[in-house]
Amino acid sequence: MPAVNPAGETLADHLVRRIGSEGPLRLSTFMAEALGHPTLGYYTTRDPLGAAGDFTTAPEISQMFGELLGLWCAQAWLTLGSPTPVHLVELGPGRGTLMADALRAMARVPGLTAALRVHMVETSPTLRARQHAALAALPPAASPPQPIAWADSLEAVPEGPLLLLANEFFDALPIRQLQKTARGWAERCVTWDAAGKRFAWTLDTTGGAQLLVPPALRDAAEGAVVELCPAALTVADEIGRRLVAHPGATLIVDYGYDAPPLGDTLQAVRGHAYAPVLADPGLADLTAHVDFRTLAATATAAGAQAHGIVDQGALLRRLGIAQRAAALKRAATAPQGQAVDLALDRLTHPDQMGRLFKALALTSPGHPAPAGFDPSEG
Ligand SMILES: C[S@@+](CC[C@H](N)C(=O)[O-])C[C@H]1O[C@@H](n2cnc3c(N)ncnc32)[C@H](O)[C@@H]1O
Repeated sequence: MPAVNPAGETLADHLVRRIGSEGPLRLSTFMAEALGHPTLGYYTTRDPLGAAGDFTTAPEISQMFGELLGLWCAQAWLTLGSPTPVHLVELGPGRGTLMADALRAMARVPGLTAALRVHMVETSPTLRARQHAALAALPPAASPPQPIAWADSLEAVPEGPLLLLANEFFDALPIRQLQKTARGWAERCVTWDAAGKRFAWTLDTTGGAQLLVPPALRDAAEGAVVELCPAALTVADEIGRRLVAHPGATLIVDYGYDAPPLGDTLQAVRGHAYAPVLADPGLADLTAHVDFRTLAATATAAGAQAHGIVDQGALLRRLGIAQRAAALKRAATAPQGQAVDLALDRLTHPDQMGRLFKALALTSPGHPAPAGFDPSEG
């Protein structure tokens, strides 16, 4: 059932009304409303993760993912000279599973837990409640001494030494799409087809779109689509700025590409299946593949150092996932052991998440290649 506001309006009603008064909406506006409307948005109104939800993420597949990312942070902290205190920030922390697993693993490194100031950057009140519960259940040895803080944006996190994790955060940020037509570049917008009673695509040809297209792509063939994610670039720039001002390291994992941003990657997922992208705003997850190359270039332009991009499978293997799986299996029943093998396969196999998902590390300038990002690691 769709959520309704006190006036009895669903998100679709709200969008129809906005289009009626403002005209067609940019895709980024439609997507921001669909995912993040303060009372009717997809993330605002539900916990979409897991078997009963719409999709599953790596930390929900296995504890190994969060543990290895926690150890990645621990290694980075040691390389940075063990700055104390250090802000451990997660962007878009979902159910809090990754952070809980990471904190358990980090507790093995002397002095680290006591140094941590943990910040969860999360806009959804529903998921904030899940995160509270996950972190409240941590054993005392893995619980940082300072209370965990929640923030709506990275800008709201205090300045200082930084360890930052983001898994499947950037794919949820709103994108714009530009399309090459016979008369030049235009912006793809969403309108309401009153006769067909459905949202539909329309093109804004009033000008300006050409200037947004990277120069190397302007001569693309008619029909070509270029995607831009201004919100992602704002975050990448902020990360880059912080990494210049303070020692730090960031690990970004997501599905995406290391290529020019040419092609339509917008997708909707509902009940673990693809759905039509404009059909059910507020009821389906809407995402786009992450343009890792532009993320890296933006953080680099701000002064940070970029490492990678590497496939998730290669990263996890280099971080020791096979050894961790073997250790878990030694203490497991036969069915539990099979579940570990299945999770290992799902996270690392090139035909599953191993190649589609990629990782980018951003560090303060002069930092050596972080764990998992040195090609000589095999
Ligand atoms: C696909 S889920 C990933 C959850 C988690 N990282 C995981 O791997 O299980 C996206 C997460 O980002 C959050 N999110 C989406 N847009 C956001 C924004 N603009 N600012 C902060 N969090 C956001 C969602 O509420 C959710 O927690």
